[in-house]
Amino acid sequence: MIPGKRRAAVMLLSAAIVGAMLMQPVRSQNEPSIAASENVLLTFEEGISPGILLQCNLTSSYSAHKENFWMKNGEEIPETRQDNKNMELKLDRPRADAAGVYVCVYTFDNAPPANATIEIKSVPVITGHKRSENKNEGQRAVLHCKSLGYPHPIWTWHKVDNGGFNDIDNSTGRFFINSRDNYTELHIVNLDINADPGVYACNATNVIGSNKETSVLRVRSHLAPLWPLLGVLAEIIILIVIIVVYEKRKKPEDLQDDDDLGGPVKTNSTNNHKDKNLRQRNTN
Ligand SMILES: *[C@@H]1O[C@H](CO)[C@@H](O)[C@H](O)[C@H]1NC(C)=O
Ligand SMILES: *[C@@H]1O[C@H](CO)[C@@H](O)[C@H](O)[C@H]1NC(C)=O
Ligand SMILES: *[C@@H]1O[C@H](CO)[C@@H](O)[C@H](O)[C@H]1NC(C)=O
Ligand SMILES: *[C@@H]1O[C@H](CO)[C@@H](O)[C@H](O)[C@H]1NC(C)=O
Ligand SMILES: *[C@@H]1O[C@H](CO)[C@@H](O)[C@H](O)[C@H]1NC(C)=O
Repeated sequence: MIPGKRRAAVMLLSAAIVGAMLMQPVRSQNEPSIAASENVLLTFEEGISPGILLQCNLTSSYSAHKENFWMKNGEEIPETRQDNKNMELKLDRPRADAAGVYVCVYTFDNAPPANATIEIKSVPVITGHKRSENKNEGQRAVLHCKSLGYPHPIWTWHKVDNGGFNDIDNSTGRFFINSRDNYTELHIVNLDINADPGVYACNATNVIGSNKETSVLRVRSHLAPLWPLLGVLAEIIILIVIIVVYEKRKKPEDLQDDDDLGGPVKTNSTNNHKDKNLRQRNTN
């Protein structure tokens, strides 16, 4: 223990960033100590924040450290390796994706690495969701939402009826919710054309706050996919009827035409024409 070595540094970040940075000495017997910024609470209000500054200072250690770097959500942030005792990470214009778990890590030649953790928390922000789903009755609908922000939210789904967010009625056992960290899915199996259509809302809630988004589910009759086929069939039937009727009405005329083209009649007709021509010449 290192009493009396506690210092506090308060930094106002901006109106958009609530919270101050305080020293959090990481103390343990036979271990180096690190003074790190306090956890940050991100809020998204009017105006652009100037940025967040995360700091770690190596305040004591047995031997000179080798180097240090930053990690975010368990992964090293590239190009942050250096060898100063004091390290800084500046996050410009932080958005919800800046939220997460940040760790500064100091490495030593002959000792295990030391680290300190700084959390940047924010309300969950839903960054993706299915706006609408169109399915046939009996099929399965899948709605989803995903979020940014930290800590990961608790997800709930509601049905929006008469402007109210109601619990989903699962008395038929056809609703399944599948949530994992920043992602949730609502499956509705064996869709019911009467009970299921409507507006569904996913709600993401963490210690900081909550947000929600809505999706519209439409359910069509299972005959719907047959309609285009039935249309084509109807067209074919109407065409056949028209052709048959036309052929039937046309038949007597066709027979007459055939007679006209017949040998003896033809000569008669040419004779008639000759007579006509003669008559015309006479009148001239
Ligand atoms: C780290 O050290 C710098 C320089 O001495 C100081 O300004 C800063 O407040 C320190 N940060 C923390 C978290 O102790
Ligand atoms: C930080 O230090 C603790 C205790 O030494 C260790 O268990 C943990 O794995 C370290 N975390 C990282 C990210 O290095
Ligand atoms: C969701 O979380 C996983 C890890 O839990 C991460 O790999 C992924 O990038 C995150 N996605 C978003 C949109 O935050
Ligand atoms: C709905 O009921 C089924 C069957 O009882 C169950 O397996 C499922 O987890 C329930 N879904 C929800 C969202 O409660
Ligand atoms: C989400 O659900 C929580 C818990 O039921 C509730 O307190 C909160 O008001 C809901 N958030 C929204 C945006 O509806």
